[in-house]
Amino acid sequence: MNAEPCTYVIFGATGNLSRIKLMPALYHLDVANQLPSGTRILALGRRPWDQEKWLSEVRDMVVAKAKDDFDEVVFKRFAERLQYHQGDIVDPACYSSLAEVLSDKTKFARNIAFYLSISPADFGRVMELLSNNHLFNEDEGWRRVIIEKPFGYDLDSARALQKRISHYLTEEQIYRIDHYLGKGMVQNVLVFRFANVMLEPIWNRNYIDHIQITHSEELGIEGRGDYYNSAGALRDMLQSHLLQLLTLVTMEPPASMEAESLRDEKVKVLKSIRPIPREAVHGHAFRGQYASGHVKGAKVNGYLQEDNIPADSMTETYASMKLNIDNWRWRGVPIYLRTGKRMAKAQSTISICFKHPPLQFFRDTSVHCVDQNWILLGIQPEECIRIEMTVKEPGLEMKTRTSSLDASFRNEDEKAIDAYEDLLLDVLKGDRSLFLRFDEVEYAWRIVDPIVQTWADERDYIATYPAGSWGPEDSRLFEKSAHTWRSSLTPECK
Ligand SMILES: NC(=O)c1ccc[n+]([C@@H]2O[C@H](COP(=O)([O-])OP(=O)(O)OC[C@H]3O[C@@H](n4cnc5c(N)ncnc54)[C@H](OP(=O)(O)O)[C@@H]3O)[C@@H](O)[C@H]2O)c1
Repeated sequence: MNAEPCTYVIFGATGNLSRIKLMPALYHLDVANQLPSGTRILALGRRPWDQEKWLSEVRDMVVAKAKDDFDEVVFKRFAERLQYHQGDIVDPACYSSLAEVLSDKTKFARNIAFYLSISPADFGRVMELLSNNHLFNEDEGWRRVIIEKPFGYDLDSARALQKRISHYLTEEQIYRIDHYLGKGMVQNVLVFRFANVMLEPIWNRNYIDHIQITHSEELGIEGRGDYYNSAGALRDMLQSHLLQLLTLVTMEPPASMEAESLRDEKVKVLKSIRPIPREAVHGHAFRGQYASGHVKGAKVNGYLQEDNIPADSMTETYASMKLNIDNWRWRGVPIYLRTGKRMAKAQSTISICFKHPPLQFFRDTSVHCVDQNWILLGIQPEECIRIEMTVKEPGLEMKTRTSSLDASFRNEDEKAIDAYEDLLLDVLKGDRSLFLRFDEVEYAWRIVDPIVQTWADERDYIATYPAGSWGPEDSRLFEKSAHTWRSSLTPECK
């Protein structure tokens, strides 16, 4: 697929996401000569800024995030693509003036991508106003809308939002972003599974004991108290990113890497996840909130002492879950997911634990019980694929140890590409394979909705954990006493 020239209209261009991700990603695409000539970026903001002020703001955004030395020559070219448009997104007048600006064919490409980097509460209204002003009309070029997460607040609100926006847009025009899918290592999960034929025979309930997916952060809520307190860890991370990782690890091979085939298979897995009835929520999900503690040696506040957090908040900063997939491949293999803020270490990992060998051949030696094999997929910060095998320790005695086979994803001289670069380019190409189809979002909400509802009703107790720890004691989720969270990519300190 070729990237076509387009006008990116960024709603919320002055906000945090635009500052730390979108503008730097667009600049880096320009550095890599990936932005087709004629691509323009129209920033929509309510601040009374002129073009000069906008250019200086964008320069700061880019300098702060530039991967290599900031390139003046590229920035000059990039700056020519930029324009600022002042307007209030809830004011209908903003859209008639926007339509007028965009009607200048000498300046703006006819293909237009609207990036909604704004509060999710405004998604529906903004799309209605864009539609009322004929800005989704595709007579002269395509119109695409990129919607940031979260898509809905629960199952009902996601369905309501979908119903509303489907009045204005077809599914083909909607790009629901989950930036995790833009990460190279996440895409590498598919390559690892489907380009290495030796894995397929063992990738099932006959060989795999259980799977763990962890996303832990050292950071707290970083000044985003209002947003976080209404979301919590379950909605913010688990419903979206972690369930997406689960689908990639467990889905059947798609007929092709084309968007619909891939998404069909992901949806099939989500549909096969055993529903959790309200009365079983406590056996399947756990929540916690960080108390004060130490992160990297520095004392940090507990969640309830953070700015803009009510003293009686029950919002979880840690959520864990056990899921079962009721299909031929995975029946009987528990899948554990967990995510938390202010944890001991920042990392995203998928850990796949294999069963013990069927016979303990070495039981009459000092090797009573050999370790299980693991496959470890490090997503961030360490990007790696590691297979842990048992080998004999050199020497006269029969002793074993674990040795890791490493397949590194990136050589030292190969730079990481930010997920947003990948995804912003895919929009220009019309490639939706790394964006979410509505049924994926809907099934993901169906899985977590009973937990969302139960936790909303139970307001008398939430477990706490010290900041800087691995989270609360939630071992009641584990199906076997031998199951414990794996927090490291190295065998020495599993
Ligand atoms: N930040 C992240 O790391 C992150 C990560 C994943 C997803 N997201 C999603 O990305 C979206 C944006 O998040 P954010 O963190 O960038 O939020 P933010 O910093 O609060 O930015 C919101 C933007 O919307 C603008 N805005 C609000 N009301 C407006 C109005 N009436 N008229 C015109 N502009 C208006 C704000 O303008 P002002 O600058 O004038 O206030 C600001 O530019 C959200 O959907 C969020 O869930 C963010």
